[in-house]
Amino acid sequence: MAANKLSCTLAIGALLCLGFAALIQATDKPVTDVCLGCICEAISGCNQTRYCGGGVCGLFRITWAYWSDGGKLTLGNESPQSEDAYANCVNDPYCAANTIQNYMTKFGQDCNGDGAVDCYDYAAIHKLGGYGCTGELAYNYQNTLGTCLTSFQSVDVRISG
Ligand SMILES: *[C@@H]1O[C@H](CO)[C@@H](O)[C@H](O)[C@H]1NC(C)=O
Repeated sequence: MAANKLSCTLAIGALLCLGFAALIQATDKPVTDVCLGCICEAISGCNQTRYCGGGVCGLFRITWAYWSDGGKLTLGNESPQSEDAYANCVNDPYCAANTIQNYMTKFGQDCNGDGAVDCYDYAAIHKLGGYGCTGELAYNYQNTLGTCLTSFQSVDVRISG
């Protein structure tokens, strides 16, 4: 039962991130759609209900500083100076995903020293920041991420990105 529930959640995550892939086509996108979906899954269960709490907002649980480093993207024509610009952006799956791509373009690095910059590194950077990504990750976060990446390996050969 628990396994069924997980694979269902993962399937929804996959659809979500494949949606990302279709809509977000640009050059500076180091993070694959599968990786985005799995980070989302690991950090919030990919819960798209509008959320702000404990210094983070949105389905990717992004801080203000992260959003700022990610280029202060906004929805529509909203000014980055607007009081709600941050919360509105990071609660939107596409604005949040683009923020992550910008952040990783800036801070992408081999955090775990395995010779590759891949989703495990991006997930560590996402959670611990660009300057602390060699630190410890919570077991649940790492475990959900790993399970998700493993189960989607077959649908995206660019998994190593
Ligand atoms: C999604 O997040 C909202 C707001 O934080 C919460 O009330 C709701 O229970 C969550 N849904 C699931 C399925 O976890």
